[in-house]
Amino acid sequence: MSDLGFHTLDSEVDAELRVEGDLPTWLDGSLVRNGPALFEAEGNGVDHWFDGLAMLHRFAFEDGAVRYRNRFLQTESYERASRGDVPTGFATGSASMLRKLRSFLVDAPYDNTNIVAERFADRYLALTETPRHVAFDPRTLATGDHVQYAGDQPSGHQACAHLQRDPWTGRFVSFEVEYGRPANYHVYETSDAVTRRHVASIPVREPAYMHSFALTPNYVVLTEFPFVVDPVAMLTSAGAFVDAFRWEPERGTRFVVVDRNSGGVVATPTTTACFGFHHVNAYERDVQGRPGEQSDDPTDDVRPRPGAELVVDLETVPDAESLAALSLDRLRSGDLGVFGGALDRFVVALRADGASVTRERLHDGTALPTASPLRRCRPYRYAYAQATDQPVTEWPSALVKVDVETRESWTYDPPDGHVGEPVFVPRGEATTPRTGGTAPVDGPEDDGVVLAVELDESAGHSWLVVLDGESFEERARAAVPHAIPYDFHGRYFPEL
Ligand SMILES: [Fe+2]
Repeated sequence: MSDLGFHTLDSEVDAELRVEGDLPTWLDGSLVRNGPALFEAEGNGVDHWFDGLAMLHRFAFEDGAVRYRNRFLQTESYERASRGDVPTGFATGSASMLRKLRSFLVDAPYDNTNIVAERFADRYLALTETPRHVAFDPRTLATGDHVQYAGDQPSGHQACAHLQRDPWTGRFVSFEVEYGRPANYHVYETSDAVTRRHVASIPVREPAYMHSFALTPNYVVLTEFPFVVDPVAMLTSAGAFVDAFRWEPERGTRFVVVDRNSGGVVATPTTTACFGFHHVNAYERDVQGRPGEQSDDPTDDVRPRPGAELVVDLETVPDAESLAALSLDRLRSGDLGVFGGALDRFVVALRADGASVTRERLHDGTALPTASPLRRCRPYRYAYAQATDQPVTEWPSALVKVDVETRESWTYDPPDGHVGEPVFVPRGEATTPRTGGTAPVDGPEDDGVVLAVELDESAGHSWLVVLDGESFEERARAAVPHAIPYDFHGRYFPEL
């Protein structure tokens, strides 16, 4: 494998792309992707894929054409890194430099917001796992101000970049981790990323590393993998953030189920040890498997009554070893040698005499799984992901669509490329009038397109590929004038 996917991209362009095939005329919003694109400068570099400096890429669709623009986020981290002064990040940082970790989380939290791009009210923000967001202009991709929560609500040192939008209210739900003594998980809701409503604080002796979580209509589920840290040492020790965590499989994986209304922890069932990054979707149903008291009216914005079972779909790996495998040395040498992800379904049964959890495999060999934004927190059929070998021998070169009910799957395998996270864009968009949340529309769930970036190493550049959601076959592609390094997450903004 060449290392074109992990090279520093120093060109910023604004260009109309040549489209081959046919783009649907209803596709008239923008895909904004976020990911690392500067890995070294002035002879110094980051150690890990997760620590490359953030670049935004926008693909704007209009009248069957695609316009592409990319720009680095001009953050404090970027300014330092481009001078060769690489900031301590998620997995970069020398143990010899005392208290570098503290600077990552506390003094001036790390602002290399390279994970997600999201819209909060009228503002677009780039996010990472510190509570310091960076605003950007969604059209020019110019960097704006730092945005942090205001007020005296309980808050943490580490944030979750994968906030989940509640489809009934349009508000985001997320959590932060407070280190030190005491240590807590703080769950909150926000609309604008400035003010927030405190939902719950859950004391924890040794916090787990959790990259995402599950949201259902009535519950927040924190999936506590047995990858844990001493919360005092976290604030005082040297080295990189992730180096402070220990893998303790004997703990198992604990599901902390929080009632969103009362803020109380209603159950903490435990299952076998695993690790993971991304939750795909979650919902509630009764013990017969029926979704809890849900209307079929697509414009109905009434939140379902609490169900007795929580279905939590997430991508797991056997242990936290995959973090080390994503160091740049190993990625560039092609020496991955780890297990790929698997889509697993965990069903948490809530009973008066104690909760239990079961685990079932939906599909083996995945990375960066996603689902339709219109099925969030509701029963759904389709997950989309990068398709990986098992174990992983090379960067994913195919995409897979999985029917999570029947386990049937479809593969898209282009001849020359390596493909990134697939983003499903539904053809219909429905907005409930009272709350600004989203409701599913009539028609098949997979009526839409899947957007992904493909890196063609032999041609030396990337493509935007557009697949038909239903058949999972390619319907168009557009040539990008350079090679986009492998990135993390994209959001499609219909309004943009
Ligand atoms: Fe992520």
